[in-house]
Amino acid sequence: MSTTDILLWGVLPYVTLAVLIGGTVWRYRYDQFGWTTRSSQLYESRLLRIGSPLFHFGILVVIVGHVIGLVVPESWTSAAGLSEGAYHVQAIALGTVAGLCTLVGIGILIYRRRTTGPVFMATTRNDKAMYAVLLAALVAGLATTLAGSGAVGEQHNYRETVSPWFRSLFVLRPDIEAMAEAPFSFHLHTLIGLLLFALWPFTRLVHAFTAPVGYLLRPYVLYRSRTAAPARTPRRGWEGRPGDYPESTTGAGAPYSGTPEGGPRWPRNRSRH
Ligand code: HEM
Repeated sequence: MSTTDILLWGVLPYVTLAVLIGGTVWRYRYDQFGWTTRSSQLYESRLLRIGSPLFHFGILVVIVGHVIGLVVPESWTSAAGLSEGAYHVQAIALGTVAGLCTLVGIGILIYRRRTTGPVFMATTRNDKAMYAVLLAALVAGLATTLAGSGAVGEQHNYRETVSPWFRSLFVLRPDIEAMAEAPFSFHLHTLIGLLLFALWPFTRLVHAFTAPVGYLLRPYVLYRSRTAAPARTPRRGWEGRPGDYPESTTGAGAPYSGTPEGGPRWPRNRSRH
């Protein structure tokens, strides 16, 4: 076991974790207004509608694949009756499809960023660095899958090297030797993954920690015009006559709520945010 192995597989993961947790807490406390996806949907939505779901659903499957491949020991899946060969066939098939969807998705998103003027203008250097590392992690990940399957070079069972090392980190006894035995492609992919985790809190990837799940359940947001509608006589029937519903001032059935002269109730020069 060399000093480089100790630094890379025994020290670096903990430094990364400290930066990830410390950086996230720092960002949350000091930059709440910057904690956003900085959505560019208003500028362009046609390509976004294709690229974004492809990327996000793809990456969700990739994450589930990582959790199963890295966290669940080989002995457990064997005990459940899944042979090593069968495990790898399904992992490679599903992993490759999910990885390719993610890659195509991010390809569309980057193309959109480059070719749509306002989206390009809204892209910072920080965004560009993040895209480069994310793309590199995805490409290197797919390369490890190819390399591990034996399609390129010698076959490698990462569940005997990378996975035990990954689990050993959480009991604070890093199995450096196991990881050191993995081929170069796995080392490279893991290092890029660690770099991405270290950059995470300082990029707009933070939005992943606060996915707006509440959107599914929240009430609709009602928009109304900043300027009042011109005065008109309420129609007969369900709209009622002014004064019919004194307790109600908004919504369907409410009488017109402007001033008798027809102007808005609030001063026009005051912001209503
Ligand atoms: C320390 C962190 C990481 C480790 C130890 C790790 C490990 C692995 C391993 C062992 C594979 C091969 C899986 C197989 O052949 O079945 C793989 C594949 C892959 N990884 Fe990672 N990875 C890490 C982080 C990441 C990150 C951050 C991303 C993307 C943002 C990523 C994206 C991928 C992709 C796209 C594949 C190929 C498709 C798939 O298997 O799902 N990985 N990774």
